[in-house]
Amino acid sequence: MLNGHGGNIYALAQRLECAPSDIIDMSSNVNPLDPLPGLVEFIVDNISSITALPQVDAKSSAQAFADRYNINPEHVIAGNGTTQFIYAIPQALETKRALILGPTYADYADACGMHNVRYDYMMAEESFDFKLDVDAVIEQIKDHDTVFICNPNNPTGALMLKADLERLCRFHPDTHFVIDESYLPFVYDSDQLSMLPRRLPNVLVLNSMSKIFRIPGLRIGFLIASGQNIEKFRPFQLPWNVNSVAQTAVDYLMKHTEETDAFIDKTVLLLEDQRKFMADIFKDADHIKLFPSKTSFLLAKLDEKITADMLCDHLAVDRILIRNCANFWGLSEHFIRISLKTKDINRMLADKIINFLHSI
Ligand SMILES: Cc1ncc(COP(=O)(O)O)c(C=O)c1O
Repeated sequence: MLNGHGGNIYALAQRLECAPSDIIDMSSNVNPLDPLPGLVEFIVDNISSITALPQVDAKSSAQAFADRYNINPEHVIAGNGTTQFIYAIPQALETKRALILGPTYADYADACGMHNVRYDYMMAEESFDFKLDVDAVIEQIKDHDTVFICNPNNPTGALMLKADLERLCRFHPDTHFVIDESYLPFVYDSDQLSMLPRRLPNVLVLNSMSKIFRIPGLRIGFLIASGQNIEKFRPFQLPWNVNSVAQTAVDYLMKHTEETDAFIDKTVLLLEDQRKFMADIFKDADHIKLFPSKTSFLLAKLDEKITADMLCDHLAVDRILIRNCANFWGLSEHFIRISLKTKDINRMLADKIINFLHSI
């Protein structure tokens, strides 16, 4: 789907007649820190890589990822963001009927729609802070051959524990489970939560570089699955799908393990602190409820008489963009999502929201 994502600073900038860079973008869930020190300089120094074709299948990028995470390279493909794989899944896996655990990222449903694949949603309950009950999910899977799970989930921030995921995937060995871990690196102890090291034959993991390394414009993501499942995706790979600059960046990121580990640790600490900070600020606020989150964004619900449109329009005047969640299937026009930034920006946003809510 081309519309309906966060991060549309271009449309807002056009409306406000300003530059996209003038917008404070709290709608796109990227790392609040600047990119890894040294990365942008490295890319600039190597920009002449664009004068030659990149490696046709980005095999070296897959190899670098596999080496970094100690995975068999035959079990990894590099893509033009995880988006490339999301839209290939129904075709590659020959999905007949999918189950999507929602409310969640719309592209899983859009990918099914693109390929005329039937899908059902199973919605987590708002009254349980959108946490899913694994036993209920186990029950819900009937003739579904593919299940999409975003963990932690966008936009709710809810996390499924690895033990629960494993139980679910083992209970239905003939069903493919697509676990989108795009936001997992923002979670404390993410290595312990990832399905990557488990390598169950029916599990496919999506790993995005866009969010954690704040490089969504480079378009790099990985699919990790059994050798047999990886082979199903090869016929759908486009030549040169990972551009030269992106391949250069992967090389840098995967080789600088100490720096990337320290960068991720710093990010996780900042977010932990900022989630608490925002929860404290909004604890006693009227007309808004924040849902607990484990990752880089917060879902919030506004009172009946206040819509996300009203709040988004109000903040837009100050060139602040948050995510209006009205178009997430299973939510309503009262939901917003805030992507956390550094403390000063978060405080500024919180003050503006609270003042606006008081003025209603
Ligand atoms: C849950 C989720 N998965 C995947 C993506 C796509 O990310 P990319 O294609 O940049 O890896 C997004 C982007 O917002 C997302 O929110």
